[in-house]
Amino acid sequence: MARNDSNFVCQDCGHESLRWAGQCAGCGQWNTLVEAPRPNAAPAQGRRGGRAKSGEAARPVALRDVSAPAVERLLTGIEELDRVLGGGLVPGSIVLLGGSPGIGKSTLTGMALGNLVAAGRKTLYVSGEESAAQVRMRAVRLGDSALDVPVVTETSLETVLGTLEAVRPDTCVIDSIQTLNAEGMTGAPGSVGQVREAAGAILEVAKRIDCAVILVGHVTKEGAVAGPRVLEHLVDCVLLFEGERERSFRTLRALKNRFGATSEVGVFEMRGGGLVEVEDPSARFVGEASGAPGSCVLCSMEGTRPLLVEVQALVAPTEIVPPRRVANGVDRNRLAMILAVLARHGGPGLAGADVFVNVAGGVRVDEPGADLAVALAIVSAHRGEPLADPEGRPLACFGEIGLTGELRTVGHADRRLAEALKFGLAPVLGPPETERMQGLAPQATIRAALGTALARRPQEAAA
Ligand code: TYD
Ligand code: MG
Repeated sequence: MARNDSNFVCQDCGHESLRWAGQCAGCGQWNTLVEAPRPNAAPAQGRRGGRAKSGEAARPVALRDVSAPAVERLLTGIEELDRVLGGGLVPGSIVLLGGSPGIGKSTLTGMALGNLVAAGRKTLYVSGEESAAQVRMRAVRLGDSALDVPVVTETSLETVLGTLEAVRPDTCVIDSIQTLNAEGMTGAPGSVGQVREAAGAILEVAKRIDCAVILVGHVTKEGAVAGPRVLEHLVDCVLLFEGERERSFRTLRALKNRFGATSEVGVFEMRGGGLVEVEDPSARFVGEASGAPGSCVLCSMEGTRPLLVEVQALVAPTEIVPPRRVANGVDRNRLAMILAVLARHGGPGLAGADVFVNVAGGVRVDEPGADLAVALAIVSAHRGEPLADPEGRPLACFGEIGLTGELRTVGHADRRLAEALKFGLAPVLGPPETERMQGLAPQATIRAALGTALARRPQEAAA
């Protein structure tokens, strides 16, 4: 039974209840409730035991009169990281960096701290996962300045807090938040109670000593940072480092950012000497595009930056009912919708075929502007006809598909178009725009777009 100062917290969703139960009332998962001390048990009790009493009055201040000294951001020297952060680390802020094991979180933070040391900043690297010797081995690969970063190997939360107060660094990396162990908490390190307790305590100290903290967190198989979502509201910024471990490309994106846009994406490549920023990812992806049947180039937007990626599809006859729909890098529901629209509006009916769609390079495109590229790749794969022009240049396109088969305008058409033209991929198939654009072949419907795309190779069609 729970004592008065503890309750039971679901390890998956963070739902709290006073009693233990086999199934979480919040998310319906079984066996996920673990006893944990209630944070700030006393005030919470006061609140639950009746209405709070009015206290002393605070004086509201007009926002105009609030003093806000311009803060100088801490530049990590890794341009893609700084951009995703919204222009560098904000002093005193907490950043949660999530990613699956082996993706390169320690490498990225190690490089950032190395650059900060070289720029004369005071840093601290707290490693709870690896020994100092292991951290050193990585730093040797990352270059000279990474070796100047002071490191402590510690898993006790209290010791880490004490070290932070004593050292007072400008930037500190905790690798990882799941290894920290708070005294007097029952849960194992990495459990919701422990993680929340540790993050809350670090946050409090960091704000006090004005230290920017990067909390490294492992991502569960469901993709949530630090298991449940308990940390996301606590921290200022949530970054997710994604990619396939086998592939060298990694993308860094912000899920939440109090000091910048959440739409920015940084692209990295893992090499022998650490992570290398891919400054022109479009060039890489277009260069790799095969132009074979089932392939086309999508002009997508990653935040404020246009990015050309290759969308690939494979259509294979199957006896399985229902047939398989596999989507990598695009939304699965979106794929189902596109298949339905195709079947109804001029495309093939694929009820007897497995359909696989993949965005090459392990990139994720979560935007409706990807619809047309997915549709064209599928039709091309189904017919076995390439969409590349006779010189082998892949077809570039963008646009949202409506349920009635029309093509709909998407944001930043001009920038998408300009990026494709940079690589000589004109004409670009896209939705009808209000103004005429050089290099754009506007298509009113998916039916029209299919006709235009498949007519790019007249001599083959005749053969
Ligand atoms: P790591 O940063 O330890 O991942 P994480 O902290 O997210 O678990 O590094 C992951 C992988 O990167 C590891 O398998 C080795 C590889 N790697 C390189 O290829 N080149 C390098 O320079 C470094 C430091 C690591
Ligand atoms: Mg690591």
